[in-house]
Amino acid sequence: MMEDCDAARRGLVASVQRLRGPPFAMSDSSQFLFMTCQVGAEPTLKRELAKYRPSFRFAYSRPGFLTYKLPEKHGLKDDFELHSVFARAYGFSLGKAEVAAAVANEAAPSPPAPLPEGARGELAAQVWKLAEGRTFDALHVWPRDQRTPGEHGYEVGPTEESRAVERLLRETAPEAQAALRTKKPTQKGDLVLDVVVTEPHQWWVGYHKAASLVSRKPGGMFEEIELPYEAVSRAYLKTEEALRWSKLPLKKGDEAVEIGCAPGGSCQALLKRGLFVTGIDPAEMHPAVFDHPQFRHLRMRGNDVKRREFRDVRWLTTDMNVAPNYTLDTVEDIVTHRDVDIEGMLLTLKLLDWKQADEIPQYISRVQSWGFDQVQCRQLQHNRREFCLAAHKSAAAHEHEDAEAAEERAARKLAQLKKAKSKE
Ligand SMILES: C[S@@+](CC[C@H](N)C(=O)[O-])C[C@H]1O[C@@H](n2cnc3c(N)ncnc32)[C@H](O)[C@@H]1O
Repeated sequence: MMEDCDAARRGLVASVQRLRGPPFAMSDSSQFLFMTCQVGAEPTLKRELAKYRPSFRFAYSRPGFLTYKLPEKHGLKDDFELHSVFARAYGFSLGKAEVAAAVANEAAPSPPAPLPEGARGELAAQVWKLAEGRTFDALHVWPRDQRTPGEHGYEVGPTEESRAVERLLRETAPEAQAALRTKKPTQKGDLVLDVVVTEPHQWWVGYHKAASLVSRKPGGMFEEIELPYEAVSRAYLKTEEALRWSKLPLKKGDEAVEIGCAPGGSCQALLKRGLFVTGIDPAEMHPAVFDHPQFRHLRMRGNDVKRREFRDVRWLTTDMNVAPNYTLDTVEDIVTHRDVDIEGMLLTLKLLDWKQADEIPQYISRVQSWGFDQVQCRQLQHNRREFCLAAHKSAAAHEHEDAEAAEERAARKLAQLKKAKSKE
């Protein structure tokens, strides 16, 4: 796993300590940072920064968008890692492009009226002015979040408005920024021009150098993930995102367990990859998942499952609607058992109270103490008031299995499951 896991390898705790030490090489970067995050996560992000980046000064915020003033000699490189769980994307701020907001009806200014003719052109011209002096390799345009993911069907990601802004910017890119006229996947090392559409009449402009996987995606978001028609819950989305973000090396035919699996969207993301999935939950599964030939349901609580059920399990995911320490207690009992050898985990940890986010370094240390040397946390774009903890044992003892042996093992497992299901 994980290009982004430099921080993870050492753990957030270690990286936080390092960040307090001498910074990196000097650069001619801006004196401000911008960040985007989930609506409602702003106070938590502010607390995180106050604790781990005490020299940064909060400057401005809108729901889902914040800026910070940096100390004069910050020395941060264009591709520096903020090591934040709650900042989905960030970069150096160059300022904002803005025109007067059009208000259709003074008494009821929301939703905002459409921009007057020519206003977008004026905004684009301001963007190109702010971008002067740097030559960019890539353009990322995204809107700030409007509400909590999943609320009234809302999912974060590009909007009609942000797509129109992106098209206009590509069309009007000056000669010096000709590389931005066509859209290409962002590569590691690209200098990215960031444009956050905070309002139709106000676009914040910034930049960063792409490094980690998420920093190569506009707004740190996986635009390509969609909820398939057959998905039985939106938990499918967060597992799909967690798998891509963490890059855990799951393989077809591997065994996985999900604790807190009903009705089954997350399991569908695992089953789609060809895994054998045991779902543990006292609640009922959706028939589409329950009847899947590679799925079996243990209808009970996670702590009541016999340890032998985990014997051949390589991957563990959890999604229980309980406090983080309860999830970690359940997981600890399993992964520290001598007969169990879990290589990697994706834990969704619910913040029943946002203040529980202050405990994240302790959660990470706890997971590291079980032998997982790569641990990283991120509030995913599909997470609600929760975040994902990904853990991996980089030197996992799972012996290499050739394709033929793997297929034979999968066929045996399938036959066993079929037999067990026919007896139910
Ligand atoms: C958010 S839902 C899970 C959604 C599911 N991951 C999906 O993909 O559809 C939370 C689930 O946690 C289950 N749960 C709560 N406590 C549990 C425990 N101790 N053991 C197993 N499941 C538990 C609940 O029954 C509920 O179905």
